Amino acid sequence: MRILGLETSCDETSVAIIESRDNRSFVIEKSLIASQAAKHAEYGGVIPEVAARCHVEVMFPLLEAAGVSRDGSGIDFIAVTAGPGLVPALRIGVEAAKALAFAWQKPLIAVNHMEGHLASVFSPSIKEPGATQILPELPAICLLVSGGHTELLLMKDFCEYELLGKTRDDAAGEAFDKVAKLLGLQYPGGPEISRRALSGNRTAVNFPRPMLDSYDFDFSFSGLKTAVAVYLKKNPITPSLHHSTTPSLEDICASFEQAAIDVLVEKTRRAVEKFQPKSVIVSGGVSANTFLRQEMKNKLSLPVVFPFIEFTGDNAAMIAAAGAWRAARNESVDSLRVEADPNLRLA
Ligand code: KG4
Ligand code: ZN
Repeated sequence: MRILGLETSCDETSVAIIESRDNRSFVIEKSLIASQAAKHAEYGGVIPEVAARCHVEVMFPLLEAAGVSRDGSGIDFIAVTAGPGLVPALRIGVEAAKALAFAWQKPLIAVNHMEGHLASVFSPSIKEPGATQILPELPAICLLVSGGHTELLLMKDFCEYELLGKTRDDAAGEAFDKVAKLLGLQYPGGPEISRRALSGNRTAVNFPRPMLDSYDFDFSFSGLKTAVAVYLKKNPITPSLHHSTTPSLEDICASFEQAAIDVLVEKTRRAVEKFQPKSVIVSGGVSANTFLRQEMKNKLSLPVVFPFIEFTGDNAAMIAAAGAWRAARNESVDSLRVEADPNLRLA
């Protein structure tokens, strides 16, 4: 089964073609990602209307570059991100997919972006073709950490989830982005903070670990961001003193990262203790974080599976892969009725 995937939920326009063999394995024939991050860096965050305009500009050139034929021959299904995400951005992918499905008379699958992130851990690498893929055994505890979401789920089987907890305010990636902004670093903040944290002292500032005492599986990151803001107000860092102030910018990045990741790892550990899964899946943009990967592996005594780094960010290959899961359940939809849904939920 060959699936064309489209993704436009935030600031990446992506088109992919995958050949799905069964639920668990697929081959990526094409995977193209046009990132708008540099554009949004000018504004310090994603502006939905700007994102939508950029998606419009590159969608059809990307389809052409992916070698998608104009009559859709060789494509069995189209899978598109229907939500969650930014409505103006989502709509570009959804309307393009509807038009193609209508013109080609092919089934359309509306994919939940977060299920796409889950499917990304089943994706082979393109950059390292020989790299061994460790597939998660189910049931799995899933930590989904992106710029818009932070959720802990129990994945009982493909497409069967129980929501254990989620953030009550900011998502983990959002916290990295907002703290980066406070520190004068560029959007997206996650990679900037984690790179600087490598040479910082993780115990320099004792930032709070929000919700660790709540004994549920919810998260909250806005208090941690405020704690960094309050700290910086009392202890301003001037750019010329970045390396000479104590604690330095690097120390603050490392201390913030330690606090955020302590919470993510500890809540996941407690979910493992309670639900006794066979594996843990960590995915979404923040799963690119090296320290998160190390800490998950060090603190958990069962297999922890992450996507290959190239598929941690938003990409259409993961959307096509999740589309294959849904196609196996005959869940295609009437192409003319699909709508972008910013609040689409997994469970
Ligand atoms: O999944 P994603 O690409 O887009 C959404 O669906 O939101 O996630 C983007 C988020 C951004 O907040 C970005 O700062 C964060 O992932 N991120 C990271 C790292 N790389 C990306 N956060 C922490 N450490 C990283 N290395
Ligand atoms: Zn995402």
